[in-house]
Parts: sequence; structure tokens; C-alpha cells
Amino acid sequence: QRHLISAADLTRDDAVLILDTAEEMARVADRPIKKLPTLRGRTIVNLFFEDSTRTRISFEAAEKRLSADVINFTAKGSSVSKGESLKDTAQTLEAMGVDAVVIRHGASGAPYRLATSDWIDAAVINAGDGTHQHPTQALLDAFTMRRRLVGRDAGIGQDLAGRRITIVGDVLHSRVARSNVDLLHTLGAEVTLVAPPTLVPVGVETWPCEVSYDLDSTLPKSDAVMMLRVQRERMNAAFFPTEREYSRRYGLDGDRMAKMPEHAIVMHPGPMVRGMEITAEVADSERCTVVEQVANGVSIRMAVLYLLLGGNEPAVSQARTTAT
Ligand code: CP
Repeated sequence: QRHLISAADLTRDDAVLILDTAEEMARVADRPIKKLPTLRGRTIVNLFFEDSTRTRISFEAAEKRLSADVINFTAKGSSVSKGESLKDTAQTLEAMGVDAVVIRHGASGAPYRLATSDWIDAAVINAGDGTHQHPTQALLDAFTMRRRLVGRDAGIGQDLAGRRITIVGDVLHSRVARSNVDLLHTLGAEVTLVAPPTLVPVGVETWPCEVSYDLDSTLPKSDAVMMLRVQRERMNAAFFPTEREYSRRYGLDGDRMAKMPEHAIVMHPGPMVRGMEITAEVADSERCTVVEQVANGVSIRMAVLYLLLGGNEPAVSQARTTAT
């Protein structure tokens, strides 16, 4: 069985294939009827132990556009609140005959545990685990960067070689930052992390990126600047940075955005905390791709599901044919 657990597991060719397939899927989204029959008769469970807006809705939209049968499970209101384990939950799903499990979990490593267990014989897709990985987020971010910085058609078959990407904020708690560093490095981009010293992970020197504490000097050298939310829910209250001090040093406002090259974009995985890491002026500006990232997420998740669940070439050809 094939799984998607970590962006670090993807080769350059894997990643470019997913990005190219997502371009085909995006053409389906441009049609009046946004459906393909590719996963008809397949059952996918969205197993969410942690809150989500974008990822959960986006996976569900992707699954429905591929005609899969979709079961949504959230830990709240389930027997998990009565103490049921991941193993027992997985075995319950196995008994129902699911083909794929999309899992978000607060514990780093939970999707890997599920994929390598004998509890369930289904493809496992990591929708975010603890502070570890969020591979489909990194893929949709790379897709957005490739479209904006290389071009929608010009980007087909291309990676992000030489593009300079700056990721700013709470790197310590960010699975988005980890996944992006892994994938962007694989795609040939140069990544710089900018964060307060207290929000830089131990061992970051082994990551394939640079680290800076000075946002203002990094912005003029950036093709894309990705802002991260400060994840208070993963912090001891004693370590909360004050909003004013954090914004002053690491927030992106209009004056700072003006230091970026004209072609450079502002990204955010969401949810945004306006006034903390990003001002409303920047979030609502034309340079900010946050809404575009959400739309691209559906195409990326369609591509991942299609490739993992044994989609065959005619289905992609069908998307290509019907779109042209
Ligand atoms: N970007 C992201 O993972 O958002 P959600 O937590 O809303 O899914």
C-alpha cells in the first residue's frame, strides 16, 4: 500500500508529477461540472483528531470531485472522547472496508504509526501531525509558488530551482515550516527561516536552509515570504511573546511588504491572526495568495488521491481532454 506521510519522502520527480497532475485537476475545477468518475466505488475516511477548516473541507471537496464515497470522522463527538485508542478506531474503520484514511492528529508520528501498523489495510495520507509534517500543505504551497513565480503553463515539468523563499514566525511548532523546508529543498529552492530565537527548533542547523533573526534584511532577497501563525495552543502560557513586540520585529505590515521585490508574493497557510503576524492591509493585498492557496489545495489533494489510489492514465487524460 502506498502512503503520503512526509514531504521528505518525495523525490523531485514525485513532487513534480504531483504538481503537474494538480494542474490537470485544476482544469476540472474550471469546468461547470467539477467531477471526474475516477474514484467511484472507493471509500475515503477523513479522520480528524484536531481542528481544521481548510484541510478538512479541501480533502472532502477533492474526494467528492473524484466521485469517492466520503466518511467524515471528528474526534469530538466520537468514542475517542470515551478513551478509545487509535488502534481500535482504525480497526473499526477497517471493518467497514475503507480504501484510504486522511488523518490529522495532535501527536507527531500518528499517521506513520497507522501506515506501518497491521490495524488497517488502506492508504494513509497525513493531513497534519503535531509539529511534524503537513505534506499536502507544502505541495499546495509549492504549486502556488510555481504558478506565480514560474507560470501556470511554463511551470509544467519544472521545479523551483533558484527561487528564494523566506518562512517567518513560529518555526518551532510549525509542521508547515518543516514540510516546506523539505519539499522546497527537494525542488531546488533556497529557503531562509526567520524567527525569534525562542521559536527556532533545536537542531535546525541540520535542516537544508539558512536561519536569520533579521526580517528586514531578508525581505529584499525574497521571491516569496510565508508568514506563520504563533501557535499559542502548543505553548506554555509563560512563553507567549507579547503581540506588540512580536509584530514589531516579525510581523509583516505595508512598510515591510514594500521592501520585497515587486514580483514577490506573500503567503500564509492559515488560519491568520490579523494584527499579530500579518496586518489586514497585507492580508487583503493583491500580493497575498492566501485564498489562492486554499483553491490550489483542492487540486493538489485531488492529484494526491488520484495518484495514491491507483488512478490510471485515462482518468488524467480524461481531465486533459475534457478541459481543452
Ligand atoms: N493550513 C491548514 O492546515 O489549515 P487548517 O488547520 O484550517 O486545516
